[in-house]
Amino acid sequence: MTQSGAIDRASTIGDVYDHPLGRDIIDKLLLQLGRSQRWVDNPIVRRLRVRTVERLGHGFTGDGFIDTLLTLLNDVSDSPTRTTGPVTPRWWKEAVFYQVYPRSFADSDGDGIGDLRGIINHLDHLEDLGIDCLWLSPIFASPNEDNGYDISDYRAVMTEMGTLDDVDELIAACHARGMRIILDLVVNHTSDQHEWFKEARRDPDGPFGEYYILRDGDSTTLPNNWASYFSGPAWTWLEDTKRWCMRLFAPGQPDLNWDNPAVRREVADVVSWWLERGIDGFRLDVINFISKREGLPEGNEFVGSLMEFTGVEHYFHGPHLHAYLAELRRDGFQRKGEVKEAPGHDPTAVMIGETPGIGIETGRLLTAENRHELDLVFSFDHLENPGKTRWDDYAYDLNHLKAYMIQRQSRLGSGDWVSLFWENHDNPRMISKVNADPLYRTPLGKALAAIQLLGRGTPFIYQGQEIAAINQDFQNVSDFRDIESINRLSHHHGGPVNIDVVRPGSRDHARTPMRWDDSQCHGFTTGEPWIGFHEHSTGYTVAEQQKDPDSVFTFYKQLIALRREHPALRLGDVRFAYPRRRDYFAWFRELDGESFLTEVNLSARSIRRPHYTAVLRDVLTTGRDEVRLGPYEVRVHRVLS
Ligand code: NOJ
Repeated sequence: MTQSGAIDRASTIGDVYDHPLGRDIIDKLLLQLGRSQRWVDNPIVRRLRVRTVERLGHGFTGDGFIDTLLTLLNDVSDSPTRTTGPVTPRWWKEAVFYQVYPRSFADSDGDGIGDLRGIINHLDHLEDLGIDCLWLSPIFASPNEDNGYDISDYRAVMTEMGTLDDVDELIAACHARGMRIILDLVVNHTSDQHEWFKEARRDPDGPFGEYYILRDGDSTTLPNNWASYFSGPAWTWLEDTKRWCMRLFAPGQPDLNWDNPAVRREVADVVSWWLERGIDGFRLDVINFISKREGLPEGNEFVGSLMEFTGVEHYFHGPHLHAYLAELRRDGFQRKGEVKEAPGHDPTAVMIGETPGIGIETGRLLTAENRHELDLVFSFDHLENPGKTRWDDYAYDLNHLKAYMIQRQSRLGSGDWVSLFWENHDNPRMISKVNADPLYRTPLGKALAAIQLLGRGTPFIYQGQEIAAINQDFQNVSDFRDIESINRLSHHHGGPVNIDVVRPGSRDHARTPMRWDDSQCHGFTTGEPWIGFHEHSTGYTVAEQQKDPDSVFTFYKQLIALRREHPALRLGDVRFAYPRRRDYFAWFRELDGESFLTEVNLSARSIRRPHYTAVLRDVLTTGRDEVRLGPYEVRVHRVLS
């Protein structure tokens, strides 16, 4: 960066790469293009002037790319600092989280839809596993255009899921077991059935008109070229009000106008209201999208084609993002009354942001301890191999995950903490992505568990991971329920409807219900499930896995128990061994003289173990050979000296 910190056309690529957002953007570009990050370490590349790159790359990027980049970079004046010293212990750094997708977890009343009582009835399963905190995907009142990510009342429960009394009972039941519970807060947008939106529609010039992003115009001219995440433009024409309404997701999910202080106040009030009910925190849905660039300028076409969503540069790290988050933390997340570090009473509720498009350095800017914004982020760069998207049918190479984890850890200071996750309700199952051969299902499930539970960071297990859930064998268009898949099927041009355009990446893979037992509907419901089961393997239900001492479930339990027992495996430093050795992933976790080494074979072939001079004692292993690691084998050792 130049003296003043400003980046301009005279700056070098090195200057851009030394800027936190610049670095993230270049890394992301390289990832999308399938190029190695080493490309930018080349001194010749680093010395290139931005204006030279503009000239050379113009044929590729078209107009405006460099202006877009400079605007984004010059919004950011801070750099994350790298702090040293011991890690401050916080419950959410040491906890193992478990994400429940309530609609698909357990149905207690036979209507085919999972509900709160179903969760209450299965808390033993989570306690048995060793879970410290539950995260529930949305349970709020909703017309369910996007399965609850379209909320019509933040202080009411979706009828199918139960009542506020059920939530209170669930909170109390979690706390009684020493577990915490967090909810999903979807406040980039509401449902179009929310009272605020209904009011805005009734009187767009009144106060609620300012709660949303409405634009005058005529019905044939879109206000800008931004794209929706669920296909088509990010705008809906409201015929009754003669306004365009911005909605980055479904037509029924209008974006809130966070530049309006009244909106920010409402959100903080919702958070406080739930904190008073005992909730321990929130996962904030697409929270980095809340601050949109003033004037809503056209999205750059090159960025749009690269990132799949035109306009994203104007809101993925918007101008007021950091300020709005700090304000929300201050006004909503501080618990009132008597506080102590305990479930239901923590002074500050945990604040976890889902942040698509955010890279390592901007992630640090959002979460560094001394900045008082978010505690953790979910970023997604590790979920696909370079040059691939979720919709591509390919075998994910775990060496990318390894490289990402090593790279990320090398950039963190003691005031940074990260989340560890491979699955959620928006992604296919990781086992299927890596290697769908049933022969490897169990060892691979265990390898993924070890990387997650013994890595440095907070693990978030998605329901079903602990029983090695895999993708569904969808055969027909009618098998899908998710709006994203359905829209993609109908927007995909070129010939007849072809489910291959959604099969690899559909979110429905992870949304089919939990398989509790081998009865007809797998113990999920006594009725007709809202989405069918399209995977019928034996041995991988909760009941079967619980009984099997060699199951993936048993291994999860063992890993979590080990983590609980040893602070080194929770808060300890991480040191990677043989980082360049392909298919071999090994790391030490160390704290106060205690040390563990974990080795994982990332491939389906047998590989040789390297030699360690340290004296090692096995504590948990999935193989037997001393010299080699079998397919996806895991060995956890205690380092004796
Ligand atoms: C991210 C959520 O995880 C996803 O399920 C949802 O569709 C979008 N945000 C919109 O709320």
